[in-house]
Amino acid sequence: MATILLVHGPNLNLLGARDNAHYGELTLQDIETLVGNEAKKMGHDVRSFQSNHEGDLIDWLQKEAPKASGIIINPGAFTHSSYALHDALLDAKIPAVEVHLSDINAREEWRRISITAPACVGVVSGKKEKGYIEALTLLQKKIKSV
Ligand code: DQA
Repeated sequence: MATILLVHGPNLNLLGARDNAHYGELTLQDIETLVGNEAKKMGHDVRSFQSNHEGDLIDWLQKEAPKASGIIINPGAFTHSSYALHDALLDAKIPAVEVHLSDINAREEWRRISITAPACVGVVSGKKEKGYIEALTLLQKKIKSV
């Protein structure tokens, strides 16, 4: 059994109440339950964390990554700004997949740049909550091959 870290960045605690056209209708709790259930079917365990604070996300990754096999992360707007989170993902030394509910390539120009993606083995964007299941499948393959 592998432990997978499910990490959400700023404003994603408000899912369900944010713009449904971009982010869908599920709450963060719904997404955590969905991913937890799917991972369980694959025989994996999920540990979830959300924060609006960059340093808290990094502290949590530093604490949890040594005990885990993979990361699914939606960094929210830190995607487009955080070199520190990029480095934390690299330093975690386990595969990470970046997920965006909305299609970051079909919105404002500044959203097209992901600072964190180069530290990840894959990016899934624009598939709403289904993107997390795709990320899990991708991660499953990477975990098996290491
Ligand atoms: C997001 C996309 C980001 O650009 C945005 O800042 C978010 C959510 C997404 O899931 O589509 O907060 O990561």
